[in-house]
Amino acid sequence: MNKRQFIHAIALAVSLLAASNSIAQGNTFKIGLILPMTGQQASTGRQIEAAAKLYMAQNGDTVAGKKVGLIVKDDTSIPDVTKRLAQDLVVNDKVNVLAGFGITPSALATAPIATQSKTPLVVMAAATSSITQASPYVVRTSFTLAQAAVAMGDWAPKNGIKKVVTLVSDYGPGIDAEKYFKERFLFNGGQVPESLRVPLRNPDFAPFLQKVRDLKPDALFVFVPSGAGAAVMKQFLERGMDKAGIKLIGTGDVTDDDQLNGMGDGALGVVTSHHYSTAHPSAVNKKFVEAFGKANPGLRPNFMAVGGYDGMRVIYEALKATKGQGGGDALLAAMKGQIFESPRGPMFIDAQTRDVVHNIYLRKVEKKDGQLYNVEFDVIKDVKDPGKAK
Ligand code: DHB
Repeated sequence: MNKRQFIHAIALAVSLLAASNSIAQGNTFKIGLILPMTGQQASTGRQIEAAAKLYMAQNGDTVAGKKVGLIVKDDTSIPDVTKRLAQDLVVNDKVNVLAGFGITPSALATAPIATQSKTPLVVMAAATSSITQASPYVVRTSFTLAQAAVAMGDWAPKNGIKKVVTLVSDYGPGIDAEKYFKERFLFNGGQVPESLRVPLRNPDFAPFLQKVRDLKPDALFVFVPSGAGAAVMKQFLERGMDKAGIKLIGTGDVTDDDQLNGMGDGALGVVTSHHYSTAHPSAVNKKFVEAFGKANPGLRPNFMAVGGYDGMRVIYEALKATKGQGGGDALLAAMKGQIFESPRGPMFIDAQTRDVVHNIYLRKVEKKDGQLYNVEFDVIKDVKDPGKAK
């Protein structure tokens, strides 16, 4: 660090600290919602913004005497941009809470800002286990890949799948999905002859799928982030992998409800493990799906929307519990341990880890009323993140 950078860093630290002291003043409560609204991860931003706005429409924008203001910023899923926007939101807009975070690198880049300014950072999308350990101010309402992947590592070998090739996006959540699936699957007596990783940006799945075909496993286990599943499915079917007797399995990111309906009948029968399906058969979810569809014609809520909706709930309830008077530490304390029924099912924020605990469902793609859905057929209850350092 040269002298100029040093002075800049000190000035930033001072302004972040000053920002932390001004929190809870004035009559507005500001939520800085940083999302990828454009670029490869844009569907995540669109889903979360729609869900956050729905939550506010249903619950009002005055809470504990404060007017709630939502400031939405587009980080285009570039971590340096996320961080710069977060700095600006904390120092200039004096937001009370930072929220959103479409991908893991964006959440990790911003964690130090939350720590320095004592601002709660509510992760609504990103899902690498380690994120909650990057700052004591992180609270997560999305999920972790480890939660879902372990469930698949148990289900597959019990269902005739003994040999699996894994194919994941080469970054945090993909590496977690690969690790936790593989560990459990091997423990259960399965074989993993090859683990393939594809780049996060502009992936071409074709050469990888060719390799999988040659290896002839019983199944291909896939993790790709929300928005990329349709491309994998298309190429999987185009190469006739299903006809060659290779099943597609994975975490529910690949049969993302945002895209599933457009994947066609080739997706029928695909089994995945995840925490949310648009078809989750509860009264709370039916109400959520209906209201979401009404407010956003043609859009079906996916697991990102649910992370955003529940994140708003956690923020609203913290604001209520602190009677509108809390700074970052008080809000954070009020977020820990919240327990409620989400559209995904029952969930809580583990007070020790600040991470989400929820059910993981096994689901199969089926057609109902002419639409494709992930239909739940089994559940593992109250799953904590297996990826926390012991
Ligand atoms: C992450 C992003 C996704 O779109 C997803 O489905 C899972 C994880 C992430 O970057 O953490």
